Amino acid sequence: MAKHAIPIISYDDLVTGSIKPSEVLDTLAENGFFYLSDIERAIPPSLFKSLHETSERYFGLPLEAKMEHYIGDSDNHRGYVPVTEQGSYSDESVRVYEAFDIGYDSDPLPASRSRGFELVGRNRYPTQVPGMAGTLREYYDANFGIARLILQQIAIAAELEAEHFDRWLTRPASQLRLIHYLRNDILVNREDTSMGGHTDYELLTIIHQSSPGLVAYDRASKSWHNMPVFKNTVLVLVGDMLQFLTGGRLQSLLHRVSTTGEERYSFPFFMNLDFETELGVLPFFGHSDEKIVVGHHLLGQLYRDFPYIKQRVDSGRWPVDFEIPASNVFEQV
Ligand SMILES: [Fe+2]
Repeated sequence: MAKHAIPIISYDDLVTGSIKPSEVLDTLAENGFFYLSDIERAIPPSLFKSLHETSERYFGLPLEAKMEHYIGDSDNHRGYVPVTEQGSYSDESVRVYEAFDIGYDSDPLPASRSRGFELVGRNRYPTQVPGMAGTLREYYDANFGIARLILQQIAIAAELEAEHFDRWLTRPASQLRLIHYLRNDILVNREDTSMGGHTDYELLTIIHQSSPGLVAYDRASKSWHNMPVFKNTVLVLVGDMLQFLTGGRLQSLLHRVSTTGEERYSFPFFMNLDFETELGVLPFFGHSDEKIVVGHHLLGQLYRDFPYIKQRVDSGRWPVDFEIPASNVFEQV
């Protein structure tokens, strides 16, 4: 595919097979992301509208009501993330967001198979916002379907069965976040960021933003670019696990969020595999003996992002028996 200023793939072309899987792979390899347009068939405008309305109503609740579902009180990383839950990003200079997180809804793991930190189980929804559970479930499922379709393209491009990844999608560590950036009067400098530079820890991320704010790093030109927002279009970003699986042919997209001062929403969906999945580099991309467990990478990074998780691991309440790295090896430029 020729290099466009903005890489765009039509969802219709993906569904009908009008675009070859190798083109999808090449687009991701070249850019680290693409815009997925004509998304109405997967996410109707009415669902985006419900998502926005639900988010406005939820984040408009008093803090005490939101804290009833504080994420630090859950045992599977679901619930409300207050502004004060500040991670240790070195450049998170102005933290002005709160969030609400859900995951793949499933039965908890039986005690015999659980160490306690696999992030598996039921979602929790506040009752104060009518219809919230239904809307988020519908939005989660739509994103899951889109992400699975893209994974199928990647599998085919890598000369595997389309359903290659399905075996690890029984209760995946795939998360949907509602992120609310608060209006603020903080003096905005060019370098101010309300979410520090990072890559996403999963296979790929699908993002819908209410207005621009996301800024991505272009490795070729070594410069940061504002990511525009288009109607009925979502952004697809390469995450760390796709970088690993492809032996670095795809590289996870380094990105951050600039402080605009305006109230805005962002809804990232992070597609991942089952927590305990051990991955190797796909043979199509070369030979390597290196292995990675997707949940270990994920939890190792969440440890940095969420003080409550750090506390659980450090205190031994979560008996983590793998190494927590000091930084994310995938986010190096
Ligand atoms: Fe991100």
